[in-house]
Amino acid sequence: MHYRNVHLALAAALLALGAASAAAETPVERGRYLVETIGGCGNCHTPRGPGGAFAAGKDLAGGFVFDEKPFRAVASNITPDKETGIGNWTDAQIAKAIREGIRPDGSLIGPPMPFELYRRLSDSDLMAIVAYLRTVAPVGNKVQKSVYRIPLPPAYGPPVASVPDVPRADKVKYGEYLAGPVGHCTECHTPMVDGRRDWSRLGQGGEKFEGPWGIAVSRNLTPHPEDGLGKWTDAEIKRAITQGVSKNGAKLFPPMGYSFYAKVKDEDLDAIVAYLRSLKPLPRAN
Ligand code: HEC
Ligand code: HEC
Repeated sequence: MHYRNVHLALAAALLALGAASAAAETPVERGRYLVETIGGCGNCHTPRGPGGAFAAGKDLAGGFVFDEKPFRAVASNITPDKETGIGNWTDAQIAKAIREGIRPDGSLIGPPMPFELYRRLSDSDLMAIVAYLRTVAPVGNKVQKSVYRIPLPPAYGPPVASVPDVPRADKVKYGEYLAGPVGHCTECHTPMVDGRRDWSRLGQGGEKFEGPWGIAVSRNLTPHPEDGLGKWTDAEIKRAITQGVSKNGAKLFPPMGYSFYAKVKDEDLDAIVAYLRSLKPLPRAN
């Protein structure tokens, strides 16, 4: 009798353990998910070949050029190659570069890497991203130095001490975290005024992106019934994010990273949609 009880307790404990380990991701798995899907680091950091397709075997090896009036920025090689990548940096140094935009030599990393948002990456997600970057295949690729014709600030803010995880049970809050600090949707979809993001017009769109596709203007993501997503179904919003297809069936242009977002988990898309529906409705940006 006694024996049996012990066995049952043990079986229950083992079951609980199995369930927990099935649900919990390792930091590397979490990091891979963030980098390869909602974070879309490769949309900027993976070089492209002719026709704009990502170069095979060069994941995160850098070299993509952002040629704009205020800067000619070249995306860095963030593979663990020791000569041309970040292979010699410590975990803490990589983390500081991503969240605060400061390299080990103290220099500031410039735009368009979205530091205003990355400052709010949680400690555990940041360390997961670092852990994953360590597992990426090293690629030797020396990239040119970026040139900034605008003065960069001395820093993007005071040192970030600690950022707690955002509870996933709060859908709107977690959606804000995914669409902001992780996915930087709000960076492209919020207008700039005099070189600064106007956060009072969060999600209004109207930013122009020039490329081989011509000029794409970021859309209004607020729930405005005529000018925004107010009349869109959840499925239509998710299709636009993951497949690059608008409500009317028209194909959407880059630079939004549809191919990365295609692999975002459905529960995370639900959180993003819930967040977008919570935004203040705004008319179209002019
Ligand atoms: C919108 C484009 C963009 C996105 C998205 C982006 N980056 Fe960057 N990143 C850049 C550019 C451009 C630079 C180089 C800027 C410079 O030269 O000062 C850079 C620099 C870096 C550096 C500094 C490396 C070095 O050698 O100086 C690290 C580390 C980095 N990015 C990691 C990441 C990670 C991890 C992600 C995803 C979570 C990411 N980046 C997303 C554009 C981007
Ligand atoms: C690098 C900039 C960039 C990022 C990051 C970005 N977008 Fe976009 N987005 C655009 C642009 C530009 C368009 C318009 C493309 C076109 O006109 O063909 C667009 C279109 C859309 C549309 C289609 C709306 C319509 O009216 O057809 C939706 C929905 C959308 N984005 C949501 C998001 C969400 C959610 C995220 C984050 C997961 C995101 N975007 C990240 C630039 C971006």
